[in-house]
Amino acid sequence: MPEHSRFSFDGLYSKHAPEGRPRGGAGRRGKYDFAVAYPDPKSIPIDGLVSGLQQALSEEGEDLAIYAHPQGYRPLREFVSGKLARERNIHVSADDIILGDGSGQPIHMFLEVLIDPGDVALTEDYVYAGTLGQLRRFGADVRGVECDEDGMLPDALESAIERAASQGKMPKLIYTIPTYQNPQGWTMTLERRQAMVDIANRHGVPILEDDCYVDLRLDGPESPTSIYSLDETGSTMYVASFSKIIAPGMRIGYGTGPAEVLDRALVAKSGGSVNMFASYAVHRYSTDNLDSHIEEINHVQRAKRDAMLSSLGENFGDRAEWSNPHGGLFVWLKMPDGSDITSIRDTVLDKYEVGYLSGVNFSPEGGSGQNYARLCFGFNQPDEIHEGIARLAEAFEAEGAF
Ligand SMILES: Cc1ncc(COP(=O)(O)O)c(C=O)c1O
Repeated sequence: MPEHSRFSFDGLYSKHAPEGRPRGGAGRRGKYDFAVAYPDPKSIPIDGLVSGLQQALSEEGEDLAIYAHPQGYRPLREFVSGKLARERNIHVSADDIILGDGSGQPIHMFLEVLIDPGDVALTEDYVYAGTLGQLRRFGADVRGVECDEDGMLPDALESAIERAASQGKMPKLIYTIPTYQNPQGWTMTLERRQAMVDIANRHGVPILEDDCYVDLRLDGPESPTSIYSLDETGSTMYVASFSKIIAPGMRIGYGTGPAEVLDRALVAKSGGSVNMFASYAVHRYSTDNLDSHIEEINHVQRAKRDAMLSSLGENFGDRAEWSNPHGGLFVWLKMPDGSDITSIRDTVLDKYEVGYLSGVNFSPEGGSGQNYARLCFGFNQPDEIHEGIARLAEAFEAEGAF
């Protein structure tokens, strides 16, 4: 056998190739896993999904032989269209909906067709790390806009747009999670939604609305209507997902938006259609069961949220502040100014088996949030949550975070 020297890819990577990260490993997770926004594992409707899948396969399983429509399984798009009309005042047909591999894929598609390197994208001051990562992949200049408990501050949004415009970089996008915001937990009021639309329209900046958590209402008022429905100019794109209401492992989400953007987004969509097995199961299950399932999981999650809040009260007392979310899957914890819970994260995971994500992960500029953590209550059971929060307080104490 001739000896070959190892081939090197140096110099061959595209300009857009990411740095990469090590493969393998089991993925480090804490026994008390407050790091990722998982739904309750025990509430996944396994039997319903299996029987839905079985029913669909017996009715139309032979269609698996053909590559499905690139927008995804039409009956599921019709279901989504009905759900959006009933619940979010979004009136679009199945033709205006693109199913994706989670909602992460539609987000990716929209960013791909809109963002060039250097383009300014405005987001909430702490915001979902997945979208931040994608924006950075596309080279966006991501800028956080100050928020309070009612959402993005209109004045701060307007000034951020004007500042960028004065630098010759009119923002390409406002990305927002208006309901049960990730990670801050607040819901944007109707007035703020309207103000965002007015400002965006006035300056000609499109909005990407991410409604990932809207169904997870635990108490408090219903979410105000969607930003999409308030925008009469057709400059808003909308994404949502079945991940948090059925299971992230199904990888089914969806997006809609202006026709011209959808046409381009569809071309940007990689991988052809969307997994038909998952689409069949989600469609058949959702048709008769989704509403009652959502009620059930919210009941389960309410107890978990309450466990986390009461445990924070018992163990953190007045040494920290935290959100009191009416929905979603997380509590946003603020430790005293100057406290660093970012650098001790790995130690807390290794020694105390408690996982969390530090605020830095959600910081658009990457520089702030050392004293914040997002604590997800979706995965563990209430007694484990109590134990995990007690351990977290013990860890913060021992590692000098108080
Ligand atoms: C705000 C937000 N948007 C989108 C997603 C993507 O989820 P998926 O791709 O599973 O739909 C997440 C996941 O946690 C999220 O928190």
